[in-house]
Parts: sequence; structure tokens; C-alpha cells
Amino acid sequence: MKFLFPIILIVVLASGYFFYQKSNVKNQVVPETKQAEVTNMKKYSLSEVEKHSSKEDCWLAIEGRVYDATSYISSGFHPGKAAILEGCGKNATSLFNTRPMGSKTPHSEIARKMMAKFQIGDLSE
Ligand code: HEM
Repeated sequence: MKFLFPIILIVVLASGYFFYQKSNVKNQVVPETKQAEVTNMKKYSLSEVEKHSSKEDCWLAIEGRVYDATSYISSGFHPGKAAILEGCGKNATSLFNTRPMGSKTPHSEIARKMMAKFQIGDLSE
């Protein structure tokens, strides 16, 4: 009888762990994005990106892709708040990956998936 409690405890913990793994919590937060479409996208030069350097009109070039972050900025949802403005109108690859004004670490996978929604094209050579 005294063995019953530890056995029940192990069964409960093991099944909890199993269901946690199966549910894949991270992927439920933001749906998958269609990476296959990336190559068919419009090409923009860096000088075109540079024309959109304000809070009201903010394009960012990150890792060869061009994003219009204007609506994201005005939504106020960016956890790093105004830090994102430093990247407007620039090749913000290293800012995005090093966050010198913040934790000095790269953005998370969640941030990358979120960012995909704002892609408007690719950076031309
Ligand atoms: C569309 C582009 C961007 C998206 C979708 C985005 C998204 C996010 C998200 C989801 C977080 C929470 C922490 C994490 O998940 O990593 C975050 C935090 C942060 N972001 Fe961004 N971000 C973008 C661009 C930028 C840029 C260009 C900069 C810098 C110039 C920046 C600077 C920061 C900072 C300083 C934080 C605070 C947390 C920390 O320092 O670790 N973000 N961002």
C-alpha cells in the first residue's frame, strides 16, 4: 500500500510530460509562415528601404528580406518598444540579431515568425 503514492505520482508526472511534448506549445502561439513564397517576392534596393525611415513609415532590411513594420510599430505590441525605430530605413540585420540597446541577444524564434507577417519583399543585390 505504501508504494501506491509514489507510483501514482510517477504516472501523473510522466503523462503530464508526454502531453506537454505533444502539444508543442511554441508552435501554437504563432502559426507557421509560408517560407516558400519568399523567393517570388518583389525586390527592393537598400536605397528604396532608406526612404522609409520614420515611425510612421518604417521599412527594415533583415537578412536579405524587406519588412514594413509600420503597423507593428503603431500597434504598440513590440516588447522592445521604441528600440525597433533604430532599425527603420536601414539594413537592421545586426541590430535585430544583437539588440545592443537591450539584452544583447538575438530575437527569439517567436519574433522571427511574427516578423514574417510583415515581409513585403527581398533585398536586391
Ligand atoms: C519586425 C521586426 C521585429 C519584430 C517582429 C520584433 C519582435 C520582438 C519580440 C517578439 C520581442 C520579445 C523578445 C523576443 O521574443 O525575442 C522583442 C524584444 C525586443 N526587440 Fe524586437 N522585433 C523586431 C525588430 C527589432 C529591432 C530592429 C530592434 C532593434 C533595433 C529590436 C529590439 C528589441 C529589444 C531591445 C527588445 C527587448 C528585449 C531584449 O532586449 O531582449 N527589435 N522584439
